[in-house]
Amino acid sequence: MKIILRKQVIDILKNLREKQGLIIASDLANDLNIDYVVLMSAINDLISYDLGGFKEEEINHISLNKEGMTYLKSGLPERQLLEIMIHQDLKEISIEKFIKLSKMEKPLFYIGLSNLKQNKWIAQSKASGESMIFLTAEEFPKTEIEQFLNIFNKKKVLNYSELSPDELTIIDVLNKRKLINKTQKTQRIIFLTEKGKKLDLDDIEELLQVSKISSEMLSTGSWKDVELKAFDVTKPGPLLKAGKIHPIINLINEIREVFLSMGFTEIRGPIVESAFFNFDALYQPQDHPARELHDTFYLDNPKISKLPDKERVLAVKNTHENGGESGSTGWRYKWDENIAKKTLLRTHTTATTVRKLAQYYLEIDKKPIKVFSVDRVFRNEKVDKSHLAEFTQIEGIVIDDNVNLCDLIGLLSEFYRKLGFKKIITRPGFFPYTEPSMEVSVYYDKLGEWLEMGGSGIFRPEVTYPFGIKEPTRVLAWGQGLERIAMLYYDRKDIRDFYINPIKWLRQQSYHK
Ligand code: PHE
Repeated sequence: MKIILRKQVIDILKNLREKQGLIIASDLANDLNIDYVVLMSAINDLISYDLGGFKEEEINHISLNKEGMTYLKSGLPERQLLEIMIHQDLKEISIEKFIKLSKMEKPLFYIGLSNLKQNKWIAQSKASGESMIFLTAEEFPKTEIEQFLNIFNKKKVLNYSELSPDELTIIDVLNKRKLINKTQKTQRIIFLTEKGKKLDLDDIEELLQVSKISSEMLSTGSWKDVELKAFDVTKPGPLLKAGKIHPIINLINEIREVFLSMGFTEIRGPIVESAFFNFDALYQPQDHPARELHDTFYLDNPKISKLPDKERVLAVKNTHENGGESGSTGWRYKWDENIAKKTLLRTHTTATTVRKLAQYYLEIDKKPIKVFSVDRVFRNEKVDKSHLAEFTQIEGIVIDDNVNLCDLIGLLSEFYRKLGFKKIITRPGFFPYTEPSMEVSVYYDKLGEWLEMGGSGIFRPEVTYPFGIKEPTRVLAWGQGLERIAMLYYDRKDIRDFYINPIKWLRQQSYHK
């Protein structure tokens, strides 16, 4: 019958078989360079297959202390003193002189002296008044203690239980002379059973430890033979540095969700736009300062853009010059088609919503519409921590009959509420293309402040009439920068962070918002 063991247990079993006999558990753990607890758990596995076991043993270890070790090298004090007498051929000497000659500390000298006396190697007499020492013996064989000490030359540690009664009395003496250390502990001795010793290694199979059960293991049934590795679920997983959606895109998608949930449809327009849609169709006079080079990026290639059909262009021209059908007096200047044909990078996405008006004009079955755009715009701005030359605008329009300012305020409240801003406030504003116009501010709980978000209003007749949108049909519009919201959402103080890509911060961002 096969015995299935963990790899570590097999290694330990092989090691025990090589070593044969009894092995002290702590020594084996040291040998194998494994933790004592790990070793004992492996031994428990051996026990469960009756391959091995351990027994516990009280151990009383005896070893020489520091002083004992010096005597082991240079002899006990009595032997040292004797050597002096023999070397110098002294048959007798006064204690005073002997102390000096020995160069020993007094206490040690007296210990040596008393042992010399005990060994009956010397005698002491005060007969002459002075304390004198006489060598009395002729031979000085190694004493029992000296012989015993020699054992420590071979073995550093002796086991109390292995000592004879005679040896134990010597230990007693050494103990009294304070030359030894005694340590007491319980140790485990590992052994192999007969079965463990004789077992054919081919009968052992390694237990597979796996961290995952594969479909193959399930179909073959081999999952029964494996052990599942335990997981430490408290350990943090590895940091994944996989690509993820940029926070700005996450926010754009969230805004898209808000618009879609409110029944809006997304529209997109060209980045390279005509001045016509960017300015003229929005009733911005051709000498308007916003149209200047220092605000707007004009393009050399393509230099000229295509305008819509002649009639629409004429309607816009007339509106600028005399108000056209809008009922306005117009700006009263000579409108230049060539200026309207200039190409530029759109400065706002209102260019895209007004394009929608032109499209709407062509529709035969005109129904109310709600469209939005979240897209890139460009302005000739000096870049700093709150300005970018290239940024994103959020824009929405509603075309419907009789819609009014209350509808617009309702829409804005709903829109910003869905973005997480519970309170909004509107104030009169000005845009060349809306009347009335409103600035929208939202209350930001975190800062306890009102923050200006963007502009809004109802497109002027000068904007809508050239595209056939006439009373009672009106167009509600609003627009704002996206990065302003992003700075609040992601708590960034510098607007440029969204485009210089601070990698550390990006790595901290979640994969999905
Ligand atoms: N186009 C304006 C801007 O760029 C915002 C706006 C859009 C204002 C629509 C009124 C109506 O700030």
